[in-house]
Amino acid sequence: MYRIIAVAVAVALGATVVHAQNADAIKQRREAMREIAKAGGAPFKMTKGEVPFDLAAVQTVLKTIQDNAPKFKTLFPDDSKVGATEAAAKIWTARADFNAVADKWAADAKAAAAAIKDEASFKAEYPKMTQACGGCHGTTAGFAPGLGDSFKRMQTPLQ
Ligand code: HEC
Repeated sequence: MYRIIAVAVAVALGATVVHAQNADAIKQRREAMREIAKAGGAPFKMTKGEVPFDLAAVQTVLKTIQDNAPKFKTLFPDDSKVGATEAAAKIWTARADFNAVADKWAADAKAAAAAIKDEASFKAEYPKMTQACGGCHGTTAGFAPGLGDSFKRMQTPLQ
């Protein structure tokens, strides 16, 4: 009898741990994306001339991408395909391509950080980096929903 209870408890604990891992990876990767998207808000407005150029804000988003992109691509274990996620199944079927896009994104952010020194260089270099978002987002890339839909999703709190 005790043995049966012990096994039941172990199974229940095991199930909890597996579940927690899934939710954890999904939450962490969504948090990383949110951090990048938030830091990118002001620079995006700068590209449209809606707010004044601010070198520090630009360098912040470029650093956030360099810090988060390498981590981001490790947050897609096999047990995180379902749940509170909009990551496309293609991530798991074309993993090498997905990793290459993430690596290029970090490299582009690094190159932009070195090249951007003033408003003129920002206008020339920054759009090259933002194009990298489309390397994953949208129907052509097929790794994540379109950016408009992903931005809408940021309005609901993460669980
Ligand atoms: C390497 C691929 C990749 C690149 C590059 C990328 N994203 Fe994402 N992004 C994803 C994936 C995958 C998700 C879905 C994560 C999930 O739901 O599990 C996502 C989710 C998001 C979300 C929604 C976050 C939430 O609340 O769940 C936003 C906003 C976002 N990305 C913005 C951006 C912006 C802005 C850029 C460019 C600066 C960018 N992404 C570049 C793969 C990428």
